[in-house]
Amino acid sequence: MAAVALRVTDAAKAYVNGGHETPVFSRVDLDVESGEILALLGPSGCGKSTLLRAIAGLDELSGGEISWPAGGDAASRVGVVFQQPLLLPWLTVLENVKLGLRYRAHRGAADDEAVRSTIAEFGLSELIEAYPDELSGGQAQRVSVARTVVTNPQIVLLDEPFSALDPLTRASMQDWLVGIQQSLGLTAVIVTHDVDEAVFLGDRVAMMSPAPGTIVQSWRLDRATRAERGSQAADELKREILATYRGLERPGQLASMPAETSAQVAAGV
Ligand SMILES: Nc1ncnc2c1ncn2[C@@H]1O[C@H](COP(=O)(O)OP(=O)(O)OP(=O)(O)O)[C@@H](O)[C@H]1O
Ligand SMILES: [Mg+2]
Repeated sequence: MAAVALRVTDAAKAYVNGGHETPVFSRVDLDVESGEILALLGPSGCGKSTLLRAIAGLDELSGGEISWPAGGDAASRVGVVFQQPLLLPWLTVLENVKLGLRYRAHRGAADDEAVRSTIAEFGLSELIEAYPDELSGGQAQRVSVARTVVTNPQIVLLDEPFSALDPLTRASMQDWLVGIQQSLGLTAVIVTHDVDEAVFLGDRVAMMSPAPGTIVQSWRLDRATRAERGSQAADELKREILATYRGLERPGQLASMPAETSAQVAAGV
């Protein structure tokens, strides 16, 4: 069994508004192994983004613990990729990727050569001098992932990174991410509402319940299932995951599911 890169133990988060405490998630236990992609699914509002923020150190837990069994420098543990690429429009691709290294914790951590080699690895060399408004949505999101990966974080957290892309671009981005993950040995947690995407990308898929969210089930995938879109094994697993999703929703609550997932459930896929 691979080493555990990140361990979340009995984690809980509640927000207090006007003296009233609202639990977001509770009793979350999660291990992420080095070199794996963990896909995290769950209904809207169950706390997926909040959990990622806590792992990234951008928000505090109300209870429980996040630990890093492999140790390492706290400042370079996590890189985050958001739904929107968030590139600076006045900087070129090269400068945007370099920006990842300009934050204080990473200053001086890598040279120009490392930035250029990451850009090449990401298939972006021809766009190195391009500006964000000259990029397609998929290219911009690749730059955004490159900007994160160049800092060499122990774990990359991706919060619905491809949900703003059209289906074909999205599929090619998924293929691309698997290639990058395998060549660089990335460890990643990806939040998605798309069960197909979770089954295609995940070495494991974990599902959270509605708020206050907790991990209700997880599935381990074999590489062959992951690699073959539409294979029988992948389809069976997808059905099982969607059935679990359905079981989480009380009658009449389908609308609280993210639109993508509820469409998949409604279609009975
Ligand atoms: N800073 C905050 N203050 C108060 N409540 C918050 C704050 N941030 C998030 N919440 C609440 O926490 C809950 C979980 O939000 P979160 O964004 O983590 O959900 P999510 O699972 O990522 O949902 P989605 O799938 O729609 O992105 C929501 O009810 C949200 O309103
Ligand atoms: Mg979210």
